[in-house]
Amino acid sequence: MTNIAVFASGRGTNLSAIIKAVKKGKIQANLSLLVCDQPGAGAVGRAKRAGVKTALVKRQDFHGKKEFEDKIIEYLEESKIDLIVMAGFMRILSPGFVEKYSGRILNIHPALLPAFKGSHAIKDAFEYGVKVTGATVHFVDEKMDHGPIILQKAVVIEGNDSLGSLENKIHKAEHRLYPEAIRLFCEGKLKLEGRSVKVL
Ligand code: GRF
Repeated sequence: MTNIAVFASGRGTNLSAIIKAVKKGKIQANLSLLVCDQPGAGAVGRAKRAGVKTALVKRQDFHGKKEFEDKIIEYLEESKIDLIVMAGFMRILSPGFVEKYSGRILNIHPALLPAFKGSHAIKDAFEYGVKVTGATVHFVDEKMDHGPIILQKAVVIEGNDSLGSLENKIHKAEHRLYPEAIRLFCEGKLKLEGRSVKVL
């Protein structure tokens, strides 16, 4: 079975959606580890309540990025991690790290990539005035919000939507989309062909 590590820095609602999908047997995998760089993050409490081991790695405890990532790799190897699931981890992984786990790191982004990259994607899309935005799950490569796209879900922005209501709709879409993409990965149904991902 696939051993999964979720990387998160924030609330952890995607983490909870994944925990639920694993518990229900929708994803046949072990959720073995949470890697978190923020001791006060909601994700830490969620992992604890679900009995998921947490590796807390604070960037300021390490001299450089290399030492920081080496510690993370140590935790990943200890738990024999096969798949890394980024869910709001607010640090950019080095090209060396991404290379080491190439094809085995997923990320979720709250917009329809390649539109609205970056960390304010929902607000940016709302303020731009687009009528359709959404969520994207993709493989991570060396560029931010750039790797091959696995699944996308569109979310329509209605006339009466506020930024808050749009955020809720997108998070709801994410909580369905991410477990589905992880399931496909764990069942060996994702075939990477250059930039394109075939769902078998
Ligand atoms: C999500 O909106 C995800 O798309 C982005 O970070 C957010 C994490 O939310 N990468 P949560 O911590 O899972 O609630």
